[in-house]
Amino acid sequence: MKPRLIVSRQMPIAVGARIRAEFDCPYPDGVDMDVQTTLRLLAETNADALLFTSHLKLTAEVIAQLPPNVKIAATCSVGYDHIDLAAAKARGLPVTNTPEVLNECTADLAFMLLLNACRRGHEYEAVMRQGWRRGMGMGEMLGIRAWGKTLGILGLGGIGRAVAARARGFGMKIVYCNRTRLPPELELGATWYPDFRAMLPHCDFLSLHAPSGDATKRIINAETLALLPKGAVFVNAARGALVDEDALIDALKSGQLAAAGLDVFDNEPAFDLRFAALPNVFLTPHMGSATTETRNAMGYRALDNIQAVLAGKPAIDPLWS
Ligand code: DGY
Repeated sequence: MKPRLIVSRQMPIAVGARIRAEFDCPYPDGVDMDVQTTLRLLAETNADALLFTSHLKLTAEVIAQLPPNVKIAATCSVGYDHIDLAAAKARGLPVTNTPEVLNECTADLAFMLLLNACRRGHEYEAVMRQGWRRGMGMGEMLGIRAWGKTLGILGLGGIGRAVAARARGFGMKIVYCNRTRLPPELELGATWYPDFRAMLPHCDFLSLHAPSGDATKRIINAETLALLPKGAVFVNAARGALVDEDALIDALKSGQLAAAGLDVFDNEPAFDLRFAALPNVFLTPHMGSATTETRNAMGYRALDNIQAVLAGKPAIDPLWS
């Protein structure tokens, strides 16, 4: 008998095919389900496992309502700020995520945000879509040179290090802030700052790659933005909760920030439309890991975790121990 699975979010085709082959699942490709529908289907199908994403908030109240047969909840994301891990642990419910497999593609997107912010990507594209037809003067629509600048990275983990690798190809100097200093083979010449505020005056560019949590909530605010050099460029492909968006908008309007590239927002998908009205912001709809290869890898990793736990083995990527 195949294990019974509920998938609460649309999945890539290849992941749906594997679910169809290896699980008993009413919607192997997933449909976008709210909490009530997910709980109902878990109960109706006597499901063994839940595969979900960050759209579904696994709060303590939701965890308390999970039917007793559910033996694992696997989120198809590296981030887990949508899950009450203490409540999951108290219930003894294994919860897993999908780290590492998305590092390179998320770093690609962060760099895309950085380059588009520096080089006015969406403004140039708009000129072309409006037909161009008038040559640009030597001093017109100038951007900011990326090459040779100093990039500050908050969170030099897997994604942060993949961003740093790309930055080195652009001749950038890397400074970073982590709680603890990395060994030289991971630091690769980057300069460590234990104090985030002390790092900021050195950053021509600042890119966030730290998880959302109490330590990072609103770490970007009026005070920290003012510590950046005037005309810095800001990139966020981590989480919106790290940023005070009012302060960010003020900094973009005043010129304290020259530009920003943003993939994540406080309120998704109903993001603050004031960002869309700013010419110096390049925007993407939370798509850091969104390539076929990486989304397949994330789906497979979540399924591997589910199968491990259902087979009585340790989870590959446990979120609590
Ligand atoms: C992740 O994997 O955490 C992505 O940001 C999608 O939520």
